[in-house]
Amino acid sequence: MNLFDVYPINEITIVKAKGSYVWDDKGEQYLDMYGGHAVISIGHTHPHWVKRIEEQLEKLAFYSNSVRIPIQQQLAQKLGKLSGKEDYQLFLCNSGAEANENALKLASFHTGRKKVVAFTKSFHGRTSLAVAVTDNKNYVAPVNETDNVIFLPFNDTKALKACFAGEGKEIAAVIVEGIQGVGGINVADESFLKAIRTLCDEYGAVYIADSVQCGYGRSGKFFSHDFAGVNADIYTMAKGMGNGFPVAGIIVAPHIKPKHFQLGTTFGGNHLACAAALAVLEIIEEEKLMGNAVMVGKYLRDALEEIPQISNVRRRGLMIGFDVPEELTDLTRNLLWNQKIFTGEAKPNVIRLLPSLALKKRDAEDFIEALKEEIALLTEAEAANA
Ligand SMILES: Cc1ncc(COP(=O)(O)O)c(C=O)c1O
Repeated sequence: MNLFDVYPINEITIVKAKGSYVWDDKGEQYLDMYGGHAVISIGHTHPHWVKRIEEQLEKLAFYSNSVRIPIQQQLAQKLGKLSGKEDYQLFLCNSGAEANENALKLASFHTGRKKVVAFTKSFHGRTSLAVAVTDNKNYVAPVNETDNVIFLPFNDTKALKACFAGEGKEIAAVIVEGIQGVGGINVADESFLKAIRTLCDEYGAVYIADSVQCGYGRSGKFFSHDFAGVNADIYTMAKGMGNGFPVAGIIVAPHIKPKHFQLGTTFGGNHLACAAALAVLEIIEEEKLMGNAVMVGKYLRDALEEIPQISNVRRRGLMIGFDVPEELTDLTRNLLWNQKIFTGEAKPNVIRLLPSLALKKRDAEDFIEALKEEIALLTEAEAANA
């Protein structure tokens, strides 16, 4: 049997990883400025994370949600403490799409309404509702098409107000990334997030903060939406939550009450996943990784802004994007093959940096040196061809 070929892949086989580095089967070392797609929060194979998972595995890997699972409660407590949302309620699942799917469903149950507001360049996942609120027609199968989703321009408060003025009483939820990831690292304006809060309050809609990529400390705050100084009703989380162990969740404001069987999952919140997620929070706290994300992120921003060939550096913490001109289209590829550095891309011309929150300043410095070298080579080649 062959694999179902849905990804364009780099011909590299990673066999080992540690901190911000990975190694291929030929022993070649790579700096991971991509964090395995924003997933590696505390660093690859962190010893505390490995130990916690191993210890849990030896005791019990899984039992169903039909019994008490105290480690879920421990996780909820720690998450409440680190996120500052101690009075919220945690529901655990397995992936970012599933977290958003559950958040949207819960908003609809809660309000009894059907319409959802989403924004241009959004990405919320590939399951039916999550993909319906994703602004990319290529991902939406005919069966996912729905008239229940209203797309508005991102960061356009005027359009949002006009929409609520017209259809506010039918709107169940507004779903928004605090920093759009797949869309190219676009930071939500604080005034825009505040307006979402105000309008949701006024019209009885649910504010869903998709924190799957921008959450879990990556921005320097636990949730990037927190920069606006207002709370969302539901936060969705995934990528950084397990440092590579598949675990996701939503936290729900206290005024939204649970009802038996409205949400459910077989694997969500299993013992092993909770052990991984707890280890992540323990390390984020102990090693002060949110502070590190601010510090190293600031260094990278300042250094990137001094490189004349790149433009529009935008970021919070260690979620960074910048634009590259046409002649540097090969930059990501050259960084990978010539410098052995993984970075991310967003169409058409954005480079995304999503490294571990434990990225060391000296690794960031190495990255900047390598970046400058590859830009110089591409610029020279362009000049020679002109
Ligand atoms: C903002 C955001 N939401 C949701 C998802 C979907 O997460 P998953 O791939 O775990 O389903 C992603 C994945 O890239 C994302 O970036």
